[in-house]
Amino acid sequence: MAPMTRSFSRDGIPGDNVASYYRRRAAAGVGLILSEGTVIERPASRNDPSVPAFHGDTSLPLGAASSRACTGGGKMGPQLWHVGAMPDKRISWTPNVPVESPSGLVAPGIARGEAMSDAAIADTIAAFARAAAHARRLGFDTLELHGAHGYLIDQFFWDATNKRSDAYGGKSLKERSRFAVEVIRAVRAAVGPTSPSSFA
Ligand SMILES: Cc1cc2nc3c(=O)[nH]c(=O)nc-3n(C[C@H](O)[C@H](O)[C@H](O)COP(=O)(O)O)c2cc1C
Repeated sequence: MAPMTRSFSRDGIPGDNVASYYRRRAAAGVGLILSEGTVIERPASRNDPSVPAFHGDTSLPLGAASSRACTGGGKMGPQLWHVGAMPDKRISWTPNVPVESPSGLVAPGIARGEAMSDAAIADTIAAFARAAAHARRLGFDTLELHGAHGYLIDQFFWDATNKRSDAYGGKSLKERSRFAVEVIRAVRAAVGPTSPSSFA
């Protein structure tokens, strides 16, 4: 089951309604569930107050949904997400902290967000790793990193949104992939060599 944002977690806190949504899919025989995008511990990682946070006690109901007893042998992993400067076009909501992006751009020629400092980048990578360790602790079988659809990791990939002149930017896709590579390395270090993970 592909990750699908649902926006049913008021103030970022998934309730038992969220856990039971996944349990019903597992009970109906879904073999591998990837959760809706769940955001890492950064002040502006979400663009909708109703998407679930994936840190602290708030994510426990998601973890409960993943337990073997609930999935009946099926597997489940959270999708770890940071939206970068991408707004949610369905709602007019912004976090009460500055939105962040690689170069203060959300699309070609469209300014949004503050260009991330080295410290912000380092903390974001660490936050992905903490979320990955959290997934292990909660009993998930796998995890997925959201690296597509114009969100933060994807904003680093594209020359039109990544104009950085430091080690996280460059003319080639290989150079602009450095942020993603460092996230993957940190996540791998956090979950160990045997845990499967994917990159969407
Ligand atoms: C309502 C809705 C919410 C979605 N939310 C996410 C999401 O949170 N993360 C993600 O990677 N993809 C999201 N997607 C994309 C889906 O995971 C999937 O890639 C897309 O629907 C194409 O599926 P298909 O390749 O099976 O046709 C969403 C799609 C829909 C319809």
